[in-house]
Amino acid sequence: MSISTPPKFLNPRARFNYQGRPCSIVSVGSYVPARVLTNADLEKMVETSDEWITTRTGIKQRRIAAADEYTSDMAARAAERAIARAGITPEQIDLIIVATVTPDMIFPSTACLVQQKLGAVRAAAFDLEAACAGFVYALEIGQQFIMSRTYDTVLVIGAEKLSSIVNWKDRNTCVLFGDGAGAVILQNRPGSHGLLTAVLGADGSKADLLRIPAGGCRLPASQETVAQKLHYIHMEGQETFKAAVEAMYTAARLALERCNLDISHLKCIIPHQANKRIIEAVCKKLGAKPNQIFVNLDRYGNTSAASVVIALDEAVQSGRIQRGDLVLLIVFGGGLTWAAAVIEW
Ligand code: ACO
Repeated sequence: MSISTPPKFLNPRARFNYQGRPCSIVSVGSYVPARVLTNADLEKMVETSDEWITTRTGIKQRRIAAADEYTSDMAARAAERAIARAGITPEQIDLIIVATVTPDMIFPSTACLVQQKLGAVRAAAFDLEAACAGFVYALEIGQQFIMSRTYDTVLVIGAEKLSSIVNWKDRNTCVLFGDGAGAVILQNRPGSHGLLTAVLGADGSKADLLRIPAGGCRLPASQETVAQKLHYIHMEGQETFKAAVEAMYTAARLALERCNLDISHLKCIIPHQANKRIIEAVCKKLGAKPNQIFVNLDRYGNTSAASVVIALDEAVQSGRIQRGDLVLLIVFGGGLTWAAAVIEW
């Protein structure tokens, strides 16, 4: 195959690893809260500087949800946009999957709350937790339900209110994260395409690198856990950084190989928006050109499960990605978890 000629996939799933009814990503939508928290604002809160945050992470500002604005609210707003663009009604949705590490409550699931907010009365609903890799995990699972003909319309959401689990006195972490949500509608629609492949991975031996220690059954909430700040994100930054680069690169290579694609075939690479240096290191190893890489972390920081779907929405709405373009999503997060997905948009 000539690498200068973009391949055409008339029946991509028959050609690659997917069998069954083709599944299209019909539409995408996103929502970020109005409040902007800049690096200058953070300088007044912790011992940090715009210069440190910008050079170490690439982040300039992030969005912060209002006190009474929850993950389910942002998820529903993003979903409403995707639903409108798909030209469907909420009653048509058969299944809602919400990827999040910041559910409104431990239970019921945020997906159930979103179902109620949308009026998606026919939909089954559940949450999926794979940290920052959650959206691509959820996309793959949603697609399986379409391909198996179990459901006709699936809503997949990545949504986070990370500001609620950040220790605003810990400069190691509080500068990194933001809030927001993104959503896609999956259906079988002849003529448009979706996932060509998804490579999912995990390594539980490194679970301690990135976690919220308390609030589960191991360390239920108590005065001690609150006093010790164990309900906030704890992260080994440098080890996480190294693991992220290796896992994202390896998953991306495998995804491209499975599709018999070269990096030059890709119109756009959308990596998890955690740190500009991680993105640069991964993309350099992959041999990507700067104009292939989509970055919006300067404006939103790391929004975990919402990160790549907010970026996908921006890339689509701005015209950077057109129907038929090949797009690579690469994600990484706590667990550890990671995933790479090739999409024919
Ligand atoms: N402002 C100023 N100084 C700071 C700040 C800050 N906000 N944060 C840390 N520092 C200091 C440290 O205290 C340290 O000081 P010291 O040398 O006096 O001890 C110094 O800066 C260097 O700290 P490092 O941790 O070595 O900085 P590093 O270059 O590794 O950058 C960072 C830190 C940005 C966290 C980086 O390691 C990183 O991005 N790691 C990956 C994080 C990530 O992607 N996490 C999300 C995964 S997704 C998920 O599941 C949520």
